Amino acid sequence: MTEAAASDQSLEGRVAWASPSNIALIKYWGKHGVQLPRNPSVSLTLSQCATTTEIIYKPSAGDLSFDFEFEGRPHPAFEARVGTYLSAMTAEIPMLDRLHLSIRSSNSFPHSSGIASSASAFSALALCLCSIDHAINHNLSEDQTYRRKASRLARLGSGSAARSIYAHAALWGKSGTIEGSSDDYAVAVGQDIDKVFTTYRDAILIVDQGAKSTSSSAGHQLMNEHPYANERYNQARLHMSQIMEAMRTGDLKRFVELVEIEAMQLHAMMMCSRPYYLLLSPNSIKIINLIREFRKSTQIPVCFTIDAGPNIHLLYPADDQAPVQVFIKDVLVPYCQAGMWIDDFVGLGPQQQE
Ligand code: PMV
Repeated sequence: MTEAAASDQSLEGRVAWASPSNIALIKYWGKHGVQLPRNPSVSLTLSQCATTTEIIYKPSAGDLSFDFEFEGRPHPAFEARVGTYLSAMTAEIPMLDRLHLSIRSSNSFPHSSGIASSASAFSALALCLCSIDHAINHNLSEDQTYRRKASRLARLGSGSAARSIYAHAALWGKSGTIEGSSDDYAVAVGQDIDKVFTTYRDAILIVDQGAKSTSSSAGHQLMNEHPYANERYNQARLHMSQIMEAMRTGDLKRFVELVEIEAMQLHAMMMCSRPYYLLLSPNSIKIINLIREFRKSTQIPVCFTIDAGPNIHLLYPADDQAPVQVFIKDVLVPYCQAGMWIDDFVGLGPQQQE
């Protein structure tokens, strides 16, 4: 075999990862530079809402080229976003310029459910690119090196994707409370928290599955001129140290308080940016109030959080699953669009696929 043929052969292979979404407890809202956060954020890693991505790679005829299918079909909008991302990735992994990538991706949850899929999609894609890099260059053998690179590359696609790389819980952004934390990539914090949170459950109540009136990237941008931006970043930092303490000690009362105020501050920022906008719908507010009443009357430590959309995440300890699920089905589901909700839970993070 000639040397050229041997190196061409090493440029052929297949990698695949399934990577989950995550739900932020302390919210990332506001960025600068190349997807760098204005404040640290922490999230729980989910299980059921995941993207599986497979890449078959081979030498390209010229520069980097790719073809893309989402759930067995062409998807021009996703393909364009993947194309922009891959072009940026050639600066990170130069040998991508010598490859053709056939990318096949699918979600475990309905794409139209209004669930943000960018965290699972970009973390799965970044993990695949790191696997290709390692298969060819053997440069990422340490798990921590591998994960940090995957997290950093995922961040460049979508900030929140940086946090999907780890089991149970992840923190992204420099924070005095966690040694080794960085704005460049997320770090695992699952090992630092009480066991109750490693089996936490997240019922995602789909209030509206339609497209959002204002995208998250437009929302991040509005923070640049926001009159309350600096105070919001200070609050997020304060909440970060308080929630890490609550999670270390298993203080559910404090956890509930902090998670809900974070969700409310996120939406308050939207309501008073210029131009202002409102993503909550009447049924989101109805559900929020019902959750608070349920907590008061049962003393079960349920709480809600909300991403940049109208859907409500109901977070609760696994031990309370039986009564909480009765509450969801009997009381909350009537306020969900077409009765739709996703029964998710904290999980083990991305899994490499055979
Ligand atoms: O990752 P992006 O740019 O879609 O921003 C996500 C922002 C929130 O979901 C609202 C909060 C977060 O930290 O996940």
